[in-house]
Amino acid sequence: MRVLAIESSCDETAAAIVEDGRTLRSSVVASQVAHHEATGGVVPEVASRQHVAAIVPVVDRALAESDSRPTDIDLVAATNGPGLAGSLLVGLSAAKALAWAWNAPFLGVNHLVGHIYANWLGAQEPVLPAVCLVVSGGHTELIWMEKHLSFTSLGRTRDDAAGEAFDKVARILDLGYPGGPAIERTAATVDQSGAIVLPRAWLEGSWDFSFSGLKTAVMRLVAEEGPPPALVARGFQDAVVEVLARKTVAAADTLGAKSILLAGGVAANSALRSAVREMSRRPCLAPSPPLCTDNAAMIAAAACFLARSGHSDDLSVDAFPSLDLPDARSLRDPPRVPRWRSLSVRRR
Ligand code: KG4
Ligand code: ZN
Repeated sequence: MRVLAIESSCDETAAAIVEDGRTLRSSVVASQVAHHEATGGVVPEVASRQHVAAIVPVVDRALAESDSRPTDIDLVAATNGPGLAGSLLVGLSAAKALAWAWNAPFLGVNHLVGHIYANWLGAQEPVLPAVCLVVSGGHTELIWMEKHLSFTSLGRTRDDAAGEAFDKVARILDLGYPGGPAIERTAATVDQSGAIVLPRAWLEGSWDFSFSGLKTAVMRLVAEEGPPPALVARGFQDAVVEVLARKTVAAADTLGAKSILLAGGVAANSALRSAVREMSRRPCLAPSPPLCTDNAAMIAAAACFLARSGHSDDLSVDAFPSLDLPDARSLRDPPRVPRWRSLSVRRR
C-alpha cells in the first residue's frame, strides 16, 4: 500500500510517500524557521500563509522523488489535529482535494499517533507492548501502547511541554530559535555534568511531569548570577533528560514493556536517547532525528496501520486543534509509582 501524506500542523509544510507503513519512499519538509526567527516563535497567521505558498511544490517534490504517479497512490492522508487551526486546514484541504481528484480513499491522522509511528520507519521493527514517551513542542506524555493503535496515558506534563521548556530556556539564554537543537549544541561544549545542578520536579506518587519550575529556576539564576550560558544549558538539559529518562524506564520496568519508543521533536536530543539506552536493558528505539521533528512520513506510516486495521474517513473530516491521543483514557488502576527521590539519590 503506497500512502501519500501531508503534515502542516505547525510550522513545517511536509509531504511524504511511504510504502506498507515501513518503507520510506520520499519525505519533503519545507521549514518556516527563517520566517519565525525574527519573532522567536510561530505567528499562526504567518504560518498559514507560508503553508499555502509551499504546499503544491512540496507535494510535487514528494511525488517526483519517490517516482510516483497519482495512479500509484492507494491512500491519501493528512494530519487533522492537534495543531494550529489555520495551518491544519491548509494541509487537510489539499489532501482532501487530491484524494477527490485521484479517486483515492482518505484518512485524517492524529499528529501524536504519527509521532509514535515514526518508529516503524526505522530498520528495527518495534515490539509491543511498549512504553512510549512523546516529547514535542506541544506535548509531553508517557503512554502504554499495548498493541497497535491502542494508547493508554500514564502521565503527562502539568504545565509546559518539554520542547516548550527547551525553547523558552534558549530564549532566556539568547541562543536562538528553535531552542532544542541550540541548547543541545551549547550543552555539548561542556564535558562535565554537575557544574550547575537545577531542580528536578519528580512529582512523587505520579507519572506526570512538570517543567515550569525549572524554567523559573533558570530565569532566576541568569538574572541573579549570570553564569556562562553553556553551563546553564548543560544544567537545564541534564535536569530535563534525567526526569524524562528515569520515569520512562521505570514505567517500562513496572509494566513489563518489551520495548521503549521515543517520539516527537525532543526525541532528537542525543543526551535523552543515550540516557534512556544506558538506564534500560530493553530495546529503546527512536526515529532518525529528521523523523523525530515534524514530517509527513510519520503521518503516512500511521495512516497505513490505521487503514490496515479497518479505519476509513470521508471528505467531511474536520481539523481539531486540541485533539488528544485516541482512547488515551487514564488507567483505572495506575501502575505503582516508584519513589523518585530515592531513585535519584541512589544514582548519585
Ligand atoms: O515534534 P515537533 O517538531 O513539533 C511539535 O509537534 O511540537 O517538536 C518541536 C520541539 C521544539 O520545541 C524543539 O525545540 C524541540 O522539539 N527539539 C529539540 C531538539 N530538536 C527539536 N529539543 C531538544 N533537543 C533537540 N535536539
Ligand atoms: Zn510534532
